Amino acid sequence: MLTDKLTQMERNNSLLENAIRSLPTPACPVFVDGGKIRPVRFDREGEEIATRDSDRVAEQLPKTLARSRNRILYSEGPNADAPTGKRVAVLFSGGPAAGGHNVVVGLKHMLGSENTLLGVRAGPKGLIAGNLFEITDEAVAGIFNTGGFDYLGSDRTKIKTDEQFESVKKVCRENSIDAVVVVGGDDSNTNAAVLAEYLFDESVQVIGVPKTIDGDLQAGVHLPITFGYDTATKIYAELAGNILQDTPSSRKYWHFMKVMGRSASHVALEVALQVKPAVCLISEEVEEARMSLSQIVEHIAQTVVKRARKGINHGCVIVPEGLIEFIPEFRTLIGELNDILAQKGSDMASMTISQKRDFVVSELSADHAKLFASLPDYIEEMLLLDRDSHGNLQVSKIPTERLLIDLTARRVHELDSSVKFQTQSHFFGYEGRCGAPSRFDAFYTYNLGLTAGSLILDGKTGYLAAVSSFDRGGRPLAIPLTGLLRIERRHGRDELVIEKALVGTDSPAFLYFASRREAWGAEDRFASPGPRQFWGPIAGQIPIAVALNQGYEDLSFQI
Ligand code: FBP
Repeated sequence: MLTDKLTQMERNNSLLENAIRSLPTPACPVFVDGGKIRPVRFDREGEEIATRDSDRVAEQLPKTLARSRNRILYSEGPNADAPTGKRVAVLFSGGPAAGGHNVVVGLKHMLGSENTLLGVRAGPKGLIAGNLFEITDEAVAGIFNTGGFDYLGSDRTKIKTDEQFESVKKVCRENSIDAVVVVGGDDSNTNAAVLAEYLFDESVQVIGVPKTIDGDLQAGVHLPITFGYDTATKIYAELAGNILQDTPSSRKYWHFMKVMGRSASHVALEVALQVKPAVCLISEEVEEARMSLSQIVEHIAQTVVKRARKGINHGCVIVPEGLIEFIPEFRTLIGELNDILAQKGSDMASMTISQKRDFVVSELSADHAKLFASLPDYIEEMLLLDRDSHGNLQVSKIPTERLLIDLTARRVHELDSSVKFQTQSHFFGYEGRCGAPSRFDAFYTYNLGLTAGSLILDGKTGYLAAVSSFDRGGRPLAIPLTGLLRIERRHGRDELVIEKALVGTDSPAFLYFASRREAWGAEDRFASPGPRQFWGPIAGQIPIAVALNQGYEDLSFQI
């Protein structure tokens, strides 16, 4: 009966989920021998990587740095002496990203039945609490190629206090853990680097895996992109493309679409490259050109008016989530606010929102106080929200798209009151993080899991597992975490963090976008990429920005 079949489709058993579980997801050639997965040695040292703060990194993480000497490691061949009996714990940290489950599957396949894989429930918090369980072969078969982080859960706890480090050490000892795999973004992998140093003398290995839809953890050819970026941008581009297709049909709306991505504009850039909107703002360019909010608004308003004079009363503006932090006047305001919140946050805890506003205005320097007081209430309130445990402003909660709509409407009216400017606003964020991984993300994450497992069996610690050369079937490698760290001001003090990779205004992806955007603004030239494909001729499409930046010949990835 159909009703019975429908009931069987509950709990992640939709027709699609069941079909993609059995989709073949290949391993990189080096991991395969006679059709079986095999561990490899990472015994070929490559180039050295380091940031300008390498001396201070050396002071704080001397053991892992002395071991890796900040050299990239490549795999040459099989690891015939891979140990058995290892106990490895894996955790997800930070926001979800499509493909996390395949990292777990890859790890399980690489460790095989002679080692044990433990899942850590609810991220770093679960590691501190020792919330562990054993991952079975049946379980990994059920999560293969599926979206979400729900199998383990995640959180944003930063392991920073002595007590927290001690608890982790105790949990590792009590559970005889030999290695911890941290699947996370820049902040989480900073945690992994510090943990690797802390657990070095315990002989507990720590390996990071590069995750985040934001795409802001990159290292040139060594780490072209993080996992989750491809799926998220394909989902946002599908939505944006559908809306763009609606605009010349209904002929009345300007759509302002904010897309997730926290600070960097990689997500906005990729969506723009896919859909070719009338306007796409790139935060890094705004900062570099020292554009003020009114200059940004002027640019959008002029585009609206010019198109209206050609009879085009519609269009789309893509806004990166973190834009506000990159407008110079706001960056310094937010910096001062962060310091005030770090120092006086506890005094402010019991205040009402209007008391908080008045208090902050009285604490800010004169220029910042004036700017802060001039903002609409809905922006002021969000700027005062608690920072996350890594000290980040919660940019996803700031309605920048609404602010731009309000200011653009005012300016369009001043420029030409006959122009019709009706708007819709959108925020594409959470809907892109947990969808079923694209074929690229499914392949990438499975191989990141295989790489992380292989590094552990090869005795490595303090590395980020990576895969490069996607145009040639994928090449696993290991990036020393110490080589990615630098000093940044967080919570009102200097801290070691992994440098965020921002959009380079000299990168091939940005330059291509910059060469086309005037044409996209002048008239409709948009394209609608449609839903991501799991089968067929375009299932292997990789992100346009990655292909451009890596110098690939085309967008297809052989899977
Ligand atoms: P990660 O860097 O942890 O992967 O998180 C990415 C992200 O999705 C950002 O794009 C967004 O700003 C943030 O998480 C939202 O966080 P939360 O899930 O806590 O609302």
